[in-house]
Parts: sequence; C-alpha cells; structure tokens
Amino acid sequence: MILSRYVVPDLKINFIDREQEYKHILELTNIETSWIYVLTGPWGCGKTEFARALTATASNDTYVIIYINVTEEELSKAFYPTCERISKVLYNLVKEVFKDLLKLPLSIYTLVTYVEKVIKLKGKILLIIIDEITKSLEKYRLSIRDYVAALSKKIYDIERTFNCKTYVLILTSDQSASEFFDREQGKNMSMLLMWNLNKSAMIELLDKVNCPIDLELIWHLTGGNPREICMLMIYYKWNIEEWLKFKIETCREVYIKARDLGQVNVLKSLLDNIDEISSYSPELDDVPKYKIINVLYKLNILIRVDDRFRKISSLYKCYWVGSRRAFQEPVYYWIFHTMLKYGLNVEPYIVVKTIRELT
Ligand SMILES: Nc1ncnc2c1ncn2[C@@H]1O[C@H](COP(=O)(O)OP(=O)(O)OP(=O)(O)O)[C@@H](O)[C@H]1O
Ligand SMILES: [Mg+2]
Repeated sequence: MILSRYVVPDLKINFIDREQEYKHILELTNIETSWIYVLTGPWGCGKTEFARALTATASNDTYVIIYINVTEEELSKAFYPTCERISKVLYNLVKEVFKDLLKLPLSIYTLVTYVEKVIKLKGKILLIIIDEITKSLEKYRLSIRDYVAALSKKIYDIERTFNCKTYVLILTSDQSASEFFDREQGKNMSMLLMWNLNKSAMIELLDKVNCPIDLELIWHLTGGNPREICMLMIYYKWNIEEWLKFKIETCREVYIKARDLGQVNVLKSLLDNIDEISSYSPELDDVPKYKIINVLYKLNILIRVDDRFRKISSLYKCYWVGSRRAFQEPVYYWIFHTMLKYGLNVEPYIVVKTIRELT
C-alpha cells in the first residue's frame, strides 16, 4: 500500500507492512488536542524505518511531518526524508544558530518558527518525530521529567501561536528511558508500543532478500525482528551458528549473574510463565529478590508490554510474549531454556535442536 512506496535505504527494497501502525498514528494525531507520544519497542524492531516511511508517505497538504534523527553524524542526512524545503531550513538553523544537532529537540518552538517561514502552518497538523532523544538529554543534562514538562507546555504555545495542532512523537528503545517517560504519563503524554514484524511480513522480507534458511527456524530465532534479519544476512552471511554464538555469549553473562545472585530459579520461572514472577511495576521489579529481571530489561533482552503501553502493533501471547513482559526476541528464550537443561556451555546446534524438538 502507500507505505511500500518508501524504499528502505540500507536494503534497497520497498518498505514492508506496518499499515496498521500507520493507521494508528494517523488516528492519534487527529485528536482534539496537541499531544506527546513516546514510541518504544524491541531494539531493532523497525521504529526508525517506520518513522521515515511515515514521513515520506503521509506528508501532504494537511500533514506537515518533520523527522529528526539526532544521532545522525552527517547533518545533511539527519532530516531524511522530511520534505526538502523544511530540511533546508532546519539544516541552516542547526548550522548557523544552534551549531549542534542535539540542541534541536530542546528548542522545538524556535524550530517551528523557522518552519513557518517556508510552510504556512495555519490549520495544518504538525507532527515532529524525534529519534533517539536520550542522546540530546544526556548531552545537555536534562531530565526526562523536565523535558516532558517543558515540551507539553511548548506544544500548546505552538498550537496557539501558529494555529496548528502539534504532535511530538519521541522514539526510544532504551528501557530505562521508557521507564522514566512512563512516570510522566498523563502530562499530555502517552506511551506507545511497536512490535517486531508479524510472521507474514517477516516471510515477505526474507523472500525479498533471498533467505536460504528454513523460515520457521528464523521465526523461532528472531521473532520477526528486522534488525536481526539484517544482521544475519549482511554481517553473518546467513551463518546461524556464528550469530547464535554471539547471542549465547550475552546469555552466558546473564546466566552467570543469575547464578551469583542465587536467582537461576527466577530465570526458570520466567521461562515457565513470563508474566508470573514479581509485579509488572518497574519499582517492584527492582526488588533484590528479582534483580535478575531488571538486568534483563537493562540488556534489552526483556521489554515491558503491559497495559500502560498503547499497542500500535498486534502482540499475540505465546511462549516468549506475555501480557506484562516479553522477550524482545525468542532466541533468548531458547538459549536460556537450553542452558537450564544442559548447563552454561551450550553449543549453537543444541539450541537449534531444542527449537526443532519443541516447536
Ligand atoms: N518494515 C520494514 N521493511 C523492510 N525493512 C525494514 C522494515 N523495518 C525495519 N527494516 C530494516 O530493519 C533495520 C532495523 O530497523 P530500525 O533501525 O528501524 O529499528 P529501530 O527499532 O529503530 O532500532 P533501534 O531500537 O536501534 O532504534 C532497518 O535498517 C531496515 O533495514
Ligand atoms: Mg531507531
């Protein structure tokens, strides 16, 4: 459909799926009042690429969409694919006034003043997407609380001055940051959750990149995470064993930590029922008895998916996805499962064997 007109730059293929997410965002940016949304999701699930595809395809006479990637090293690429007129203005604003791209998200009002010079905003819907905001906040030592408080005031100032409803979509996959954002929910701000590609979209992606491996196996390893599929293809040349070795190493560190803490049983309960242990509240997950759970969040192995997050993608409960928390990719579930059975030193082929036996 419309999103597929966007070409994914690193893969040079048409963008896949995400129609549901697209519809959700358009609905959420057409409500009564200006609002801030924080979009989180597994590391590499496709947030950035989705935001770019949205910017490239949904911008029209009503929607003015600005995409800013504050981690982009080349300033000329930081706003891609925002329309050229706006990109130029922002490029000059950063180059001549701010002298630092990371300052831009902290000065949204000035940004809009400059955009107004090239596009009349009256009666329009303005959507400003900020990718990787934590980099700006870290550099300028601004807390998430203060940032949200200031931003929620600014969006109203913008709405009043320029006569346009204003939405800010903040992207982050940093689990600690999303916890801090969560505490600010209600201040004209809500949390959204995006998920990995669903199975049919993943198969479409694998078809397009000529994957030579059993699709079912890739599904049980990556759960449709497009970043992992790219890594497997580009970096590991479809060598599943090598890729698994890397993942096993990460899990080994966690397993050793769990052993040192005397919490291997917590890991085991997590595999038996991912929602079962401890509360879903971040503070309670932090109690010493469940410390290993917090380690898993910090390492981007687990992610919170409870009802505080509005799901813009469909999430189906299964062995690695609960209703409160989920593994970001099923490969972690399988490696821990294999370690609990065979001990720390598991080989990739044993993990694959376990998957084949149990699925
Ligand atoms: N819908 C899609 N169609 C085709 N390829 C995709 C799609 N979504 C993501 N990709 C591919 O997956 C890669 C990772 O996606 P992306 O960088 O958007 O993830 P992310 O969620 O922003 O990651 P991070 O958590 O690191 O910010 C992209 O570089 C792109 O190649
Ligand atoms: Mg990203």
